[in-house]
Amino acid sequence: MNCRTAVILAAGAGTRMKSDRPKVLHEVCGRPMVSHVISQAKKAGVEHIVAVVGHGAEEVEKTLSGESGVVFSLQEKQLGTGHAAMTASEYIPGDGDLFVLCGDTPLITADTLSRFAAFHESGGNAVTVLTAIFDDPFGYGRIIRGEDGSLEKIVEEKDACSEEKAVKEINAGMYCFNAAFFRENVKKLSNDNAQNEYYITDLISMAVDSGAGAGAFTVSDADEIMGVNNRIQLAEASGIMRRRIAERHMTEGVTILDPENVYIEEDVKIGRDTEIWPGAVLRGKTEIGCGCVIGKDTVIEDSVVGDGCDIMKSVIRRSRVGAKTTVGPFAYLRPDSDVGESCKVGDFVEIKNARFGDGSKASHLAYIGDADVGRDVNVGCGVVFANYNGVKKFRTTVGDRAFIGSNANLVAPVELADDAYVAAGTTVTVPVPEGALCVGRARETVEEGWVEKKGLSRKKKQAGD
Ligand code: UD1
Ligand code: CA
Repeated sequence: MNCRTAVILAAGAGTRMKSDRPKVLHEVCGRPMVSHVISQAKKAGVEHIVAVVGHGAEEVEKTLSGESGVVFSLQEKQLGTGHAAMTASEYIPGDGDLFVLCGDTPLITADTLSRFAAFHESGGNAVTVLTAIFDDPFGYGRIIRGEDGSLEKIVEEKDACSEEKAVKEINAGMYCFNAAFFRENVKKLSNDNAQNEYYITDLISMAVDSGAGAGAFTVSDADEIMGVNNRIQLAEASGIMRRRIAERHMTEGVTILDPENVYIEEDVKIGRDTEIWPGAVLRGKTEIGCGCVIGKDTVIEDSVVGDGCDIMKSVIRRSRVGAKTTVGPFAYLRPDSDVGESCKVGDFVEIKNARFGDGSKASHLAYIGDADVGRDVNVGCGVVFANYNGVKKFRTTVGDRAFIGSNANLVAPVELADDAYVAAGTTVTVPVPEGALCVGRARETVEEGWVEKKGLSRKKKQAGD
């Protein structure tokens, strides 16, 4: 492809978003809109991107600072799309062709961009505009064609006469230009129109009039060019993208019980024969193995889950879960938890910054924070790893096959060797050697007949006297 450069217009205020955040940074499926446009352009072969920034420039630049191949062109005053194009002009390298895209059309795909560029190249025109047919074209620039069907010009809604307003073919706001034509003519644009703005669309009639030629390429899927100007459209675009992502996974062998009711971000990977229940939220760089069940209302962020796991109504953040492990219901794996294979992390168990070895179990009601727990350990009900003295956090080490009875407290820093055994109710503050029992609790006393003697028996009252 000859189109190795893209100018992305992203300086507009986005007034209708009613937001403190620049419009193009609003997220669709976990990524700023402008990042979607950039990643699709790159997938289509673009290597050099000029992002025109203005409104919230600093924030936009900061957000995109990790993107390779992006330079920023500052449009201090937003005087229109043509003016934005002028601003970018000096950053456009060499000749060849370039795309001009908008930062607020997150649904455009690399496939359409590639076909668009190929069409432009084969047409031999100075510019090609991307168009779509809309039942309700209100608000968009209209594509005006001559009697023979050839492109003549684009007229903005505010400048259009009633005959022009009736046209259903609209300008998607994306273009392929011959770079030399673009650089030469963009500086000739004027703002002599209803909005006193510089219109990039005037380059079309300039190309027609000068004989350089202008063409139009109509997209088959009008969703792709949808521009997001308000929060209603933002939700619409998110819905379309969510559906696309869900369909991609279903095509690859993932069962999604209710595709309208899951939220899966773009970079998430899911193995085949995994089943996703309604309300699941899978975010960031999450990877789920094959044959898992991701239960209802589970949230998994930036985490890796091995094959054959069953995760039920739980939250997992920046952690790893080994194969064949069950988590939940109502478990919480906080960042830097590394749970091994064939483990059980049951209801109301919280793990944080801890390694939990293969085959270990914490079936209910436990807090395991800042710990290294070996293999086949049993953590009883109500066990607390007391990791914090109010000022500093400390670590606890638990050896393989240790058994920690119910309601024990392990006061860090403390070490339990392999096969250590902690009696229920014990508070451990000293090291427990290999195979030793640690028991620390007051001996209870039992007084026969005490209830009767104190007149506290409830038997009589229940008899009704
Ligand atoms: C533009 C087109 C219209 C088309 C529509 C498609 C013009 C004159 N009109 O209208 O024909 O149907 O897009 O969505 O081009 N921007 C800047 N600097 C500016 C102004 C805008 O960077 O000074 C950016 C915006 O951030 C946005 C893009 O350009 O990403 C489009 O601007 P917008 O104001 O939304 O243009 P429309 O009025 O929608
Ligand atoms: Ca727009």
